[in-house]
Amino acid sequence: AVSALAISVCAGQAMADPAGCDGDETVVRFSHVVAATGHPKGDAAQLLADTINSEMDGKVCMEVYPNSTLYDDDKVMEALLLGDVQLAAPSLSKFEAYTKKLRLYDLPFLFSSLDGANSYMGSDDAKELLAALESEGYTGLGYIVSGLKQFSANKPLEKPEDASGLKFRVQTSDVAVAMIEALNASAQKLAFKEVYGALQTGVVDGQENSWCNIYTQKFFEVQDGVTETNHQVLAYGVITSQDFLDGLDEDVREQFVSIVDKTLGEANQQVADKEGECRQSILDSGGEIRELSPEQREAWVSVMKPVWKQFEGDIGADVIEKAASVST
Ligand code: LMR
Repeated sequence: AVSALAISVCAGQAMADPAGCDGDETVVRFSHVVAATGHPKGDAAQLLADTINSEMDGKVCMEVYPNSTLYDDDKVMEALLLGDVQLAAPSLSKFEAYTKKLRLYDLPFLFSSLDGANSYMGSDDAKELLAALESEGYTGLGYIVSGLKQFSANKPLEKPEDASGLKFRVQTSDVAVAMIEALNASAQKLAFKEVYGALQTGVVDGQENSWCNIYTQKFFEVQDGVTETNHQVLAYGVITSQDFLDGLDEDVREQFVSIVDKTLGEANQQVADKEGECRQSILDSGGEIRELSPEQREAWVSVMKPVWKQFEGDIGADVIEKAASVST
């Protein structure tokens, strides 16, 4: 707890030790970038901490640092290897510097629904994909699913041509860049915590994200509206460092890994409801949501889906085919 407090002070945050860990417990710091509650990742992180802190009391103690208060998604990868944090859940788009296999999840219109994404990410195939991170010193413990992405901009977007000439903020993902360029628009990679300011000041015209990110970060307040494209999944790889896991006693490690697995499964069952609530909250707060007819949505599919071809070599055509065949 003392070192967690020290780190918080270094980061300029007047933050108390959130979990009240005892000195003889192994402290697991979980750093993430989204809202602490009312968001699939924020809520999953808190559920995990509550479960660990009750079931592993006296052995392991988890502290959650939300809202980029400790690290952004780039820095957290280094912090994991340095042992400054023990758990992180960057979006899968952000693993590009470590493996190109996970580009799978960035392919636009890969899954036809949130249920389809959830069901694929619960499969053994999906678990195996996380093993690609092992050569870099990380262990992937599972996925948190966050929702499907929607586009927003400072002008109405109905047809793909409406996006032409605009600049969109994207995550650090070359697939996202290719997808935006297919719209004849330009892409700018920015850290999550910079997005609101960039939209507000006009550094970028638009962005793409899940309902809960658009709501909790208030992006909708500085955009003309949000178009319900459901064009891509937003999900996270829950990762730790191999050194940290190897350093735990075997029984502690097994219990920890099994609680993470079980809790993420539970959390992922809640995603559709949470996303629905965030979507409704945008409407209740006066935000504009544009729904697309199947024909209108098909126009977006036909412009963006061809980028799959560019990334087939990185991911593997067989892997893409299997994921895309999940039909729920
Ligand atoms: C983003 O950068 O837009 C997302 O990855 C943020 C998040 O963690 O949901």
